[in-house]
Amino acid sequence: MPDPLEAMLELARGALANAHAPYSRFRVGACVRAASGRLYAGCNVENAAYPVGQCAEATAIGAMVAAGDREIVEAVVLTEGAEPCPPCGRCRQQLAEFAPPGARIHLCGPEGLRVTTTLGELLPLAFGRDTLGQPGGAPPRGPTEPPT
Ligand code: THU
Repeated sequence: MPDPLEAMLELARGALANAHAPYSRFRVGACVRAASGRLYAGCNVENAAYPVGQCAEATAIGAMVAAGDREIVEAVVLTEGAEPCPPCGRCRQQLAEFAPPGARIHLCGPEGLRVTTTLGELLPLAFGRDTLGQPGGAPPRGPTEPPT
């Protein structure tokens, strides 16, 4: 059986190669694996108006949601720097919308896996739907119904 991590790394490498990072020159590729088994990759997309830039994880999560998946099992974050690149705070929150605390987050470099951690380690005491008094668990798959 193929190793999902290898497939995720390969997709993240492809996305990283397409990163739009002319300002930071810090290219990032990400890949999320949904509970359905499908993989979604993304890269960072910077903008001349710097704060408008988007992280690689957000691009991957957006592709996943657009395709109808709503539950992340694990994620890869791939960078070319010397140090493993942990997801930024905003990305941790975005991952927490769709991933349980036990979801594995793999920090990778060009040579492969560097560190595996979990979302719960990266974002303890997360703000989530339970904080809003809404039921926990994975968000429903597919489009959200508009209010009646
Ligand atoms: N970046 C990501 O894509 N993901 C992260 O989790 C951290 C940072 C991007 C944003 C920006 O394009 C570049 O890395 C430098 O901050």
